[in-house]
Amino acid sequence: MELKKSNKIFVAGHHGMVGSALLRRLETERFPNLLTCGRSSLDLSDESGAAKFFAEAKPDIVILAAAKVGGIKANNDYPVEFLLDNLRIQNNVICSAFQSGVRKLLFFGSSCIYPKLAPQPIRETALLTGALEPTNEAYAIAKIAGIKLCQAYAREHGANFISVMPTNLYGPNDNFDLETSHVMAALL
Ligand SMILES: NC(=O)c1ccc[n+]([C@@H]2O[C@H](COP(=O)([O-])OP(=O)(O)OC[C@H]3O[C@@H](n4cnc5c(N)ncnc54)[C@H](OP(=O)(O)O)[C@@H]3O)[C@@H](O)[C@H]2O)c1
Repeated sequence: MELKKSNKIFVAGHHGMVGSALLRRLETERFPNLLTCGRSSLDLSDESGAAKFFAEAKPDIVILAAAKVGGIKANNDYPVEFLLDNLRIQNNVICSAFQSGVRKLLFFGSSCIYPKLAPQPIRETALLTGALEPTNEAYAIAKIAGIKLCQAYAREHGANFISVMPTNLYGPNDNFDLETSHVMAALL
């Protein structure tokens, strides 16, 4: 599907590193119809709140960069939150997007979805062929569920919902907290 300047694009997680970078790029490219909503006014883990937002705002395109994100320590210390928060956010956004007629959705997976001992360089076919890295297993399982939900909507309903798998990212608006940040941000 071609991106049109008139498209209403919802960037979920626009205060975060990835969401803010994509928003800056879309603003630079002069997309006039950008939609954002911070967590203080819309908690995407709230199913009815998310459904209401999508039904009223009716975006054409969704960039789903809202997630519970953290480094090795946070992932290892809080597997319940990394599993549940991410499942809730992504389920609510992906399902509401489908129900409100969103034409394209981009979901952010992560390279940690692949088995810990996957042959390098990692191929997409390595998914679900072996055990995950235990420290971020909960987060990776949530991400795999999000990817599979997008694929299921595509297969069952023809939805144009796709996923990308970034490796380690760093940049403006990164999290530099030593307890919760990724390795690169912690080193910086
Ligand atoms: N960073 C990396 O190296 C990396 C690598 C691979 C994949 N990814 C993926 O890329 C995506 C974006 O990551 P990021 O590094 O940009 O993370 P981030 O900087 O932590 O940003 C996440 C954003 O999600 C928002 N958010 C969290 N819970 C929410 C909720 N319940 N309701 C509404 N908004 C909520 C946060 O809001 P607040 O600002 O209010 O906290 C924040 O703006 C994630 O899916 C992540 O898994 C990132």
